[in-house]
Amino acid sequence: MTPTATPRRYLMCRPTHFAVTYRINPWMDPTAPYDNALAVSQWENLRQTFLDLGHTVELIEPLPGLPDMVFAANGATVVDGKVLAVQFRDAERADEAPAYAAWFRESGFDVFAPKHTNEGEGDILLAGEVLLAGTGFRTAHAAHAETQEVFGRPVITLQLVDPAYYHLDTALCVLDEKNIAYLPSAFSPGSQAVLRRLFPDAVIATAADAEVLGLNAVSDGRTVVLPVQATGLNAALRAAGYSTVGVDVSELRKAGGGPKCCTLEVRTRD
Ligand code: ARG
Repeated sequence: MTPTATPRRYLMCRPTHFAVTYRINPWMDPTAPYDNALAVSQWENLRQTFLDLGHTVELIEPLPGLPDMVFAANGATVVDGKVLAVQFRDAERADEAPAYAAWFRESGFDVFAPKHTNEGEGDILLAGEVLLAGTGFRTAHAAHAETQEVFGRPVITLQLVDPAYYHLDTALCVLDEKNIAYLPSAFSPGSQAVLRRLFPDAVIATAADAEVLGLNAVSDGRTVVLPVQATGLNAALRAAGYSTVGVDVSELRKAGGGPKCCTLEVRTRD
């Protein structure tokens, strides 16, 4: 089967105020140097990559004092034109939630307010008909039931066990309606068994791929945009029939984010 692309609508946030000033995941070192201008140019290149692939990119205004707002994937979960707003675990990111919810309300979407901690597409990923949902570090298990009620789609709970892979989208990438790529060791034994059962033909990433946040990739069903440093995963995806585009977002990795973290998919009702 030749993979086919479908045009996507993405929401992104320019890293105007990007910085590493606190530590809420093991990648972040507030004492290490970072280069805001480089972060912006790497992000611009990611945005241009999506435009070149024929996708639509919308922008939300970055707010001062919210250095992680560039990670738009954490702003909401949007499926079938319905929006589940987010509630962050950490106070440092709390004010991003109303900003993203307001953007969706102003854009004409129905927005559901969450009762439990959920960090949007960081932990909740649409895979064909079902939603895969991570828990263990950020999104609360109770949020999975809430997600199922809002979207009326089955939610599969996956237990994350490695603090380096604290969001589901750092350990697993949805490639198309039927397949995923993932790092088995980021999941509990039971969740690994679930993934093997659901996706027997999955692309298995290596530790070296995951260490450069290679799984934090964005697929349109045919082309996978992934960190250029993830050379092994790149080859494995090509062998599986996908096209790939490598992008360098090394500055954003200093906050624990990659291409997918910067990208929120806006799925309208067809
Ligand atoms: N510094 C951010 C945090 O720890 C990075 C978020 C990355 N986003 C993602 N979707 N994985 O919350």
